Amino acid sequence: MESQHHYFNKVDSTQDWAKDNFSSFDLEKLHVVSALEQTKGRGRFNRHWHSPKGGAYFTYCFLVPEHDHSLNPISLVTGITFAEVLQKLGLKVMLKWPNDIYISGKKAGGILVETKETPEGKVFFVGIGLNINIDANELRAVSCPATSVSVETNKSWSVKPIMLPAENIFKRNLEIFLKEGFAAFDKDFEAISFLAGKKVTMDYGKETIVGIYQRVDENGSLVLKLKDDSSKAFSSGEIISWE
Ligand code: BTN
Repeated sequence: MESQHHYFNKVDSTQDWAKDNFSSFDLEKLHVVSALEQTKGRGRFNRHWHSPKGGAYFTYCFLVPEHDHSLNPISLVTGITFAEVLQKLGLKVMLKWPNDIYISGKKAGGILVETKETPEGKVFFVGIGLNINIDANELRAVSCPATSVSVETNKSWSVKPIMLPAENIFKRNLEIFLKEGFAAFDKDFEAISFLAGKKVTMDYGKETIVGIYQRVDENGSLVLKLKDDSSKAFSSGEIISWE
Protein backbone atom coordinates (compact mmCIF):
# COMPACT_ATOMS: atom_id res chain seq x y z
CA MET A 1 0.00 0.00 0.00
CA GLU A 2 1.37 3.40 -0.98
CA SER A 3 1.25 6.29 1.52
CA GLN A 4 0.27 9.88 1.07
CA HIS A 5 1.26 12.41 3.74
CA HIS A 6 -0.57 15.56 4.76
CA TYR A 7 1.71 17.57 7.08
CA PHE A 8 0.60 20.49 9.23
CA ASN A 9 2.48 22.66 11.68
CA LYS A 10 -0.73 23.39 13.54
CA VAL A 11 -4.24 22.07 12.97
CA ASP A 12 -7.37 21.85 15.11
CA SER A 13 -7.32 18.03 15.03
CA THR A 14 -5.71 15.65 12.53
CA GLN A 15 -8.71 13.40 13.11
CA ASP A 16 -11.22 16.10 12.20
CA TRP A 17 -9.14 17.24 9.23
CA ALA A 18 -9.02 13.69 7.88
CA LYS A 19 -12.77 13.25 8.38
CA ASP A 20 -13.52 16.56 6.65
CA ASN A 21 -11.27 15.82 3.68
CA PHE A 22 -11.27 12.06 3.08
CA SER A 23 -13.84 12.31 0.28
CA SER A 24 -11.09 13.83 -1.90
CA PHE A 25 -8.54 11.10 -0.95
CA ASP A 26 -7.44 8.29 -3.22
CA LEU A 27 -8.34 5.51 -0.79
CA GLU A 28 -6.18 2.92 -2.51
CA LYS A 29 -3.49 4.61 -0.38
CA LEU A 30 -2.84 4.97 3.32
CA HIS A 31 -3.26 8.66 4.16
CA VAL A 32 -1.22 9.96 7.07
CA VAL A 33 -2.35 13.31 8.45
CA SER A 34 0.13 14.69 10.97
CA ALA A 35 0.65 17.87 12.93
CA LEU A 36 3.29 19.32 15.24
CA GLU A 37 0.54 20.65 17.48
CA GLN A 38 -3.24 20.56 17.68
CA THR A 39 -5.57 23.24 19.04
CA LYS A 40 -8.58 20.95 19.46
CA GLY A 41 -7.12 17.47 19.88
CA ARG A 42 -9.79 14.94 20.83
CA GLY A 43 -9.52 11.78 22.86
CA ARG A 44 -12.02 9.00 23.53
CA PHE A 45 -15.41 10.04 24.89
CA ASN A 46 -14.83 13.44 23.24
CA ARG A 47 -12.32 14.42 25.91
CA HIS A 48 -9.75 17.09 25.19
CA TRP A 49 -6.36 15.70 24.12
CA HIS A 50 -3.62 18.07 25.27
CA SER A 51 -1.50 18.50 22.12
CA PRO A 52 1.43 20.90 22.63
CA LYS A 53 4.54 20.96 20.40
CA GLY A 54 6.79 18.01 21.14
CA GLY A 55 4.15 15.32 20.82
CA ALA A 56 3.28 13.24 17.77
CA TYR A 57 -0.28 13.71 16.54
CA PHE A 58 -1.49 11.91 13.50
CA THR A 59 -4.36 10.08 11.88
CA TYR A 60 -4.11 7.10 9.56
CA CYS A 61 -6.98 7.05 7.08
CA PHE A 62 -7.66 4.00 4.91
CA LEU A 63 -10.47 2.01 3.35
CA VAL A 64 -11.38 -1.55 4.26
CA PRO A 65 -13.72 -3.08 1.68
CA GLU A 66 -16.34 -5.66 2.76
CA HIS A 67 -14.84 -8.02 5.32
CA ASP A 68 -15.70 -11.27 7.05
CA HIS A 69 -14.06 -10.91 10.45
CA SER A 70 -14.43 -8.32 13.19
CA LEU A 71 -12.51 -5.13 12.49
CA ASN A 72 -12.66 -3.97 16.13
CA PRO A 73 -9.14 -5.24 16.90
CA ILE A 74 -7.66 -2.61 14.55
CA SER A 75 -7.10 -0.39 17.60
CA LEU A 76 -5.18 -3.23 19.31
CA VAL A 77 -3.14 -3.90 16.17
CA THR A 78 -2.24 -0.19 16.11
CA GLY A 79 -1.17 -0.40 19.75
CA ILE A 80 0.96 -3.47 19.01
CA THR A 81 2.62 -1.52 16.18
CA PHE A 82 3.59 1.37 18.47
CA ALA A 83 4.66 -0.96 21.24
CA GLU A 84 7.09 -2.58 18.78
CA VAL A 85 8.49 0.81 17.73
CA LEU A 86 8.89 2.09 21.30
CA GLN A 87 10.39 -1.19 22.55
CA LYS A 88 13.14 -0.71 19.95
CA LEU A 89 14.01 2.55 21.74
CA GLY A 90 14.58 0.48 24.88
CA LEU A 91 11.29 1.36 26.58
CA LYS A 92 9.10 -0.93 28.64
CA VAL A 93 5.77 -0.60 26.84
CA MET A 94 2.43 -2.10 27.78
CA LEU A 95 -1.02 -1.76 26.22
CA LYS A 96 -4.08 -1.11 28.31
CA TRP A 97 -7.25 -2.38 26.65
CA PRO A 98 -8.71 -0.98 24.54
CA ASN A 99 -6.26 1.64 23.34
CA ASP A 100 -3.86 3.19 25.81
CA ILE A 101 -0.10 3.03 25.42
CA TYR A 102 1.70 2.78 28.76
CA ILE A 103 5.39 3.24 29.48
CA SER A 104 6.67 2.24 32.92
CA GLY A 105 3.14 2.16 34.31
CA LYS A 106 2.02 5.60 33.04
CA LYS A 107 0.02 6.65 30.02
CA ALA A 108 2.26 7.86 27.17
CA GLY A 109 -0.18 7.72 24.29
CA GLY A 110 -3.67 6.91 23.16
CA ILE A 111 -5.46 5.66 20.09
CA LEU A 112 -8.83 6.86 18.83
CA VAL A 113 -10.55 4.78 16.16
CA GLU A 114 -13.49 6.18 14.24
CA THR A 115 -15.12 4.94 11.04
CA LYS A 116 -17.43 6.06 8.28
CA GLU A 117 -19.46 3.72 6.08
CA THR A 118 -19.20 4.37 2.34
CA PRO A 119 -20.50 2.38 -0.64
CA GLU A 120 -16.91 1.13 -1.18
CA GLY A 121 -16.52 -0.12 2.40
CA LYS A 122 -15.58 1.18 5.82
CA VAL A 123 -13.22 4.15 6.02
CA PHE A 124 -11.05 4.09 9.14
CA PHE A 125 -9.64 7.10 10.96
CA VAL A 126 -7.06 5.83 13.40
CA GLY A 127 -5.79 8.73 15.48
CA ILE A 128 -2.64 8.36 17.54
CA GLY A 129 -1.34 10.82 20.08
CA LEU A 130 2.07 10.01 21.51
CA ASN A 131 3.95 12.00 24.15
CA ILE A 132 7.42 12.16 22.70
CA ASN A 133 9.24 15.33 23.79
CA ILE A 134 6.78 16.51 26.41
CA ASP A 135 8.41 17.64 29.64
CA ALA A 136 7.27 16.89 33.17
CA ASN A 137 5.67 20.37 33.53
CA GLU A 138 3.51 19.94 30.44
CA LEU A 139 2.52 16.45 31.58
CA ARG A 140 0.94 17.97 34.70
CA ALA A 141 -1.74 19.45 32.41
CA VAL A 142 -2.95 15.91 31.70
CA SER A 143 -5.57 14.50 34.07
CA CYS A 144 -4.19 10.95 34.50
CA PRO A 145 -0.62 10.04 35.52
CA ALA A 146 1.25 10.49 32.27
CA THR A 147 4.75 10.19 30.93
CA SER A 148 6.63 10.77 27.70
CA VAL A 149 9.42 9.14 25.73
CA SER A 150 11.79 12.01 26.66
CA VAL A 151 10.97 11.82 30.38
CA GLU A 152 11.55 8.04 30.37
CA THR A 153 14.83 8.21 28.45
CA ASN A 154 16.17 11.54 29.67
CA LYS A 155 16.76 12.79 26.16
CA SER A 156 14.84 14.38 23.34
CA TRP A 157 14.00 12.56 20.13
CA SER A 158 13.29 13.47 16.53
CA VAL A 159 9.72 12.55 15.75
CA LYS A 160 10.15 11.47 12.11
CA PRO A 161 12.61 8.59 12.75
CA ILE A 162 10.02 7.16 15.13
CA MET A 163 6.98 7.74 12.97
CA LEU A 164 8.26 6.55 9.59
CA PRO A 165 9.13 3.01 10.75
CA ALA A 166 5.81 2.97 12.65
CA GLU A 167 3.97 3.62 9.42
CA ASN A 168 5.68 0.70 7.66
CA ILE A 169 5.08 -1.67 10.56
CA PHE A 170 1.45 -0.53 10.67
CA LYS A 171 0.98 -1.31 6.98
CA ARG A 172 2.53 -4.76 7.44
CA ASN A 173 0.40 -5.47 10.52
CA LEU A 174 -2.79 -4.23 8.88
CA GLU A 175 -2.20 -6.50 5.90
CA ILE A 176 -1.63 -9.53 8.17
CA PHE A 177 -4.68 -8.62 10.27
CA LEU A 178 -6.96 -8.30 7.24
CA LYS A 179 -5.84 -11.74 6.00
CA GLU A 180 -5.62 -13.67 9.27
CA GLY A 181 -7.63 -11.74 11.84
CA PHE A 182 -6.59 -11.04 15.42
CA ALA A 183 -5.42 -14.64 15.93
CA ALA A 184 -2.13 -13.53 14.33
CA PHE A 185 -1.60 -10.99 17.16
CA ASP A 186 -3.32 -12.22 20.30
CA LYS A 187 -0.16 -13.74 21.81
CA ASP A 188 1.76 -10.51 21.17
CA PHE A 189 -1.03 -8.56 22.82
CA GLU A 190 -1.24 -10.81 25.89
CA ALA A 191 2.53 -10.57 26.39
CA ILE A 192 2.25 -6.81 26.93
CA SER A 193 -1.30 -6.51 28.24
CA PHE A 194 -1.22 -4.04 31.12
CA LEU A 195 -4.36 -5.48 32.74
CA ALA A 196 -3.31 -9.15 32.62
CA GLY A 197 -4.17 -10.88 35.91
CA LYS A 198 -5.63 -7.71 37.43
CA LYS A 199 -8.99 -7.07 39.03
CA VAL A 200 -10.52 -4.30 36.97
CA THR A 201 -13.42 -1.93 37.43
CA MET A 202 -15.01 -0.70 34.25
CA ASP A 203 -17.68 1.83 33.32
CA TYR A 204 -19.94 0.04 30.88
CA GLY A 205 -22.77 2.33 29.81
CA LYS A 206 -24.70 2.99 33.01
CA GLU A 207 -23.25 -0.06 34.75
CA THR A 208 -20.04 -0.51 36.70
CA ILE A 209 -18.52 -3.92 36.09
CA VAL A 210 -15.91 -5.54 38.34
CA GLY A 211 -14.06 -8.64 37.16
CA ILE A 212 -10.75 -10.40 36.76
CA TYR A 213 -9.00 -9.95 33.42
CA GLN A 214 -8.83 -13.17 31.43
CA ARG A 215 -7.88 -12.23 27.89
CA VAL A 216 -8.82 -10.23 24.83
CA ASP A 217 -10.75 -12.35 22.33
CA GLU A 218 -10.71 -12.57 18.51
CA ASN A 219 -13.20 -9.67 18.29
CA GLY A 220 -10.97 -7.43 20.39
CA SER A 221 -13.39 -7.72 23.32
CA LEU A 222 -12.21 -7.79 26.91
CA VAL A 223 -13.08 -11.08 28.63
CA LEU A 224 -13.62 -10.73 32.38
CA LYS A 225 -14.35 -13.35 35.01
CA LEU A 226 -17.26 -12.00 37.03
CA LYS A 227 -18.22 -12.49 40.70
CA ASP A 228 -20.49 -15.46 39.87
CA ASP A 229 -17.52 -17.17 38.12
CA SER A 230 -18.98 -16.69 34.64
CA SER A 231 -16.90 -15.15 31.86
CA LYS A 232 -18.24 -12.29 29.81
CA ALA A 233 -16.81 -10.45 26.81
CA PHE A 234 -17.16 -6.66 26.63
CA SER A 235 -16.67 -4.96 23.28
CA SER A 236 -16.35 -1.48 24.77
CA GLY A 237 -16.06 0.26 28.11
CA GLU A 238 -13.74 2.40 30.10
CA ILE A 239 -11.46 0.91 32.70
CA ILE A 240 -11.60 3.23 35.69
CA SER A 241 -9.38 1.35 38.12
CA TRP A 242 -7.36 -1.83 38.57
CA GLU A 243 -5.50 -3.61 41.33
C1 BTN B 1 -7.35 8.64 23.94
O1 BTN B 1 -8.40 9.12 24.41
O2 BTN B 1 -6.53 8.07 24.67
C2 BTN B 1 -7.08 8.73 22.45
C3 BTN B 1 -6.32 9.99 22.10
C4 BTN B 1 -6.11 10.16 20.61
C5 BTN B 1 -5.49 11.50 20.28
C6 BTN B 1 -5.10 11.59 18.83
S1 BTN B 1 -3.94 12.89 18.54
C7 BTN B 1 -4.14 12.69 16.83
C8 BTN B 1 -5.60 12.48 16.57
N1 BTN B 1 -6.27 13.75 16.47
C9 BTN B 1 -7.14 13.96 17.48
O3 BTN B 1 -7.82 14.97 17.64
N2 BTN B 1 -7.14 12.89 18.29
C10 BTN B 1 -6.22 11.86 17.84
